[in-house]
Amino acid sequence: MKFFVDSADVAAIRELNDLGMVDGVTTNPSLILKSGRDIVEVTKEICAMVKGPVSAEVVATGAKEMIAEGLRLARIAPNIAIKVPLTWDGLTACKAFAAEGHKVNVTLCFSAAQAILAAKAGAAFVSPFIGRLDDIHLDGTDLIADIRTIYDNYGFKTEILAASIRSVNHIVEVARIGADVITAPPAVIKSMASHPLTDRGLEQFLADWARTGQKIV
Ligand code: E4P
Repeated sequence: MKFFVDSADVAAIRELNDLGMVDGVTTNPSLILKSGRDIVEVTKEICAMVKGPVSAEVVATGAKEMIAEGLRLARIAPNIAIKVPLTWDGLTACKAFAAEGHKVNVTLCFSAAQAILAAKAGAAFVSPFIGRLDDIHLDGTDLIADIRTIYDNYGFKTEILAASIRSVNHIVEVARIGADVITAPPAVIKSMASHPLTDRGLEQFLADWARTGQKIV
């Protein structure tokens, strides 16, 4: 399973990247806003740091304008994946980018039907948003399972990039189902290391160690 970091926070990405935990990065307009940085500058910095694909999102809504924006974003670095929304115009732009050899991440996917269209349009990645489905009381992980079954039925090569991940349980669940990639905020990835029994066990070991009066030298 590949790990993408869902962030435009260079320091947070670097911390995980230094540990070998980063196979790629996803950004979106909200994450660029949160970073307070210029989209081209921050994306260039991330692309130079991370070896894998870095998704940068278009903001136009018409296919022609999306294509112009996407080509501008693709000039930032060779490892850019152009991110387009799962609309008819987005699929049109996806097809055009894919024909030119660009990697495309089709984002804002909320149904299996949409995911089929993304694969047909040549997307390298489809991003089903599981947290946002959970927010409206639908099961986001069910969607990942449906897409996995459908893509396997037909041998679609598009990678399932489970997005809008809010918890460690989401990651474990989509890993069980067989998502190809997860993208999660740095804090969620780091919290995968936490377990209360680890904390309690460590506390006990340290207390017992102190009682031995020894030092490891
Ligand atoms: C994916 O590429 C998106 O950037 C992201 O996962 C959205 O997550 P959110 O629903 O937490 O904003």
